[in-house]
Amino acid sequence: MTEPVELRRYQAAVWDEPVVMELGRAGRRGVVFPRPAGGVDLEGIPPGLRRKALPGLPEMSEPDVLRHYLHLSQQTLGMMGISLFGTCTMKYNARVNEAITALDDVAQLHPRQAEATLQGSLQIMHDLELNLRALSGMDRFVFQAAGGADAAFLHVCVTRAYHAARGELETRDEIITSIQSHPCNPATAATAGFKIVTLPLEENGYPSLDALKAAVSPRTAALMINNPDDMGIYNPDIAEWVRIVHEAGGLCFYDHANFNGVMSKIRARDLGFDACMFMLHKTFGAPKGGGGPAVGAYGCSEALLPYLPGPVLVKEDDGFHLRAGGPHSIGRVREFLGNLPQMIKAYAWIRAMGIEGIAEASDLSVLANNYMGKALARIRGVSCSHPHIDAWRLEMTRFSLETLERETGITAYDVQNRMVDYGVDAFWLAHEPWVIPQPFTPEAGEMWSKEDLDYWIAVLAKVCQEAYEDPERVRTAPHNHPIGRLDPAPLEDPARWATTWRAYKRKHGVE
Ligand SMILES: Cc1ncc(COP(=O)(O)O)c(C=O)c1O
Repeated sequence: MTEPVELRRYQAAVWDEPVVMELGRAGRRGVVFPRPAGGVDLEGIPPGLRRKALPGLPEMSEPDVLRHYLHLSQQTLGMMGISLFGTCTMKYNARVNEAITALDDVAQLHPRQAEATLQGSLQIMHDLELNLRALSGMDRFVFQAAGGADAAFLHVCVTRAYHAARGELETRDEIITSIQSHPCNPATAATAGFKIVTLPLEENGYPSLDALKAAVSPRTAALMINNPDDMGIYNPDIAEWVRIVHEAGGLCFYDHANFNGVMSKIRARDLGFDACMFMLHKTFGAPKGGGGPAVGAYGCSEALLPYLPGPVLVKEDDGFHLRAGGPHSIGRVREFLGNLPQMIKAYAWIRAMGIEGIAEASDLSVLANNYMGKALARIRGVSCSHPHIDAWRLEMTRFSLETLERETGITAYDVQNRMVDYGVDAFWLAHEPWVIPQPFTPEAGEMWSKEDLDYWIAVLAKVCQEAYEDPERVRTAPHNHPIGRLDPAPLEDPARWATTWRAYKRKHGVE
């Protein structure tokens, strides 16, 4: 039962400071290095890589830099508060794991080091792989992909190589997925040249077997699906799905981004899947950084080994070796070995949790999600997707603010912006396309206390109440932050967006 919660008065620091590129003053220094005796030896640096002019960095003292970044850290839109972001499991990143990977033994490793000097790291990679094999039933894992979407891309490349090797690529050009799959599944498949067959959802929250049977054909190259999906709904017919796709000659890929609610309860290979991906940066306690400093661990059955990207890690009597991929290898998807510090953090997380701890974390995340679900359903204006489904949702639940919008004009986006005024992180709405109107998808996970969940629920209840009583306050939020509502238009306009200072100056005519 949710107890009455008193909301705290939150006000983010407002430093109103220019960006760091504008803070410098000519000649100001943080550290003054002695000039190298005998000058700088430029030999070995190709002429094309030598600077002709000094880099345009801001010139600042060390306290200036420290103060600036400290200020920035205080202006994070509630991200230092409770974060139930959703659709992307976010976990606390244990400090001890950060400390381990900051040690010189890890931080100073160079990917071109001789194999003999990398044996410790390779052993960790190998042991991590053994753990993931045990959790999935797969025969091999590779860690090159730098995120979940990257691992999905790896899979479509493997699918292409697999059918090409069998002389069937010309005819097998369709990948089946569901409207509820993460967009990276159809997007990566389309990038690799496949046509996408998207199955709609039925009343029970997943596509029907009949729809799947109608979709499969000799053109089917693969099924790419997540289960549970990010509405927390588990398709109990999944093994039959895999059987049907296999019968048609297609491969089956399990997007395991939503693994948190089923860790140690199901195994992708036992369900018949040929391949799966785990996100070390979500489920396994390494920091989140999708698409970049992350790891999409890709596991597959023996039949797909010839297609894996090299170098492949092998254990032999004299130690660990990195071997080139086989003749059908898809080649690299990323440079070097992948993101080693993230692998070490995930390995440390698995070892610290143990198999019982992992199972318990899964149970707790489902319990917390359903505890939260019951409380949210009591808030005026909030409804749950597929309310007729009686079963517990797994790792997360999709809710809707459709009623709130109809009755007050306040959208899920408005509510998201107002919640940060209470010092909690904004929730995530839903991936596109929205199959539920005005969606939001909080994910409780296993790490937040009951008090934290109750606080978060109370914030949402308060904002919904405000929507009925003072909608303007919600529509114009955030109010307790250094910046108000951002104009999203420049993000949609390549002529105006700027991801670097140089691009900003060019596009805005700044000298
Ligand atoms: C189901 C699912 N698959 C794939 C992805 C993509 O993962 P990443 O952000 O690591 O690229 C996500 C991310 O939200 C997801 O929820």
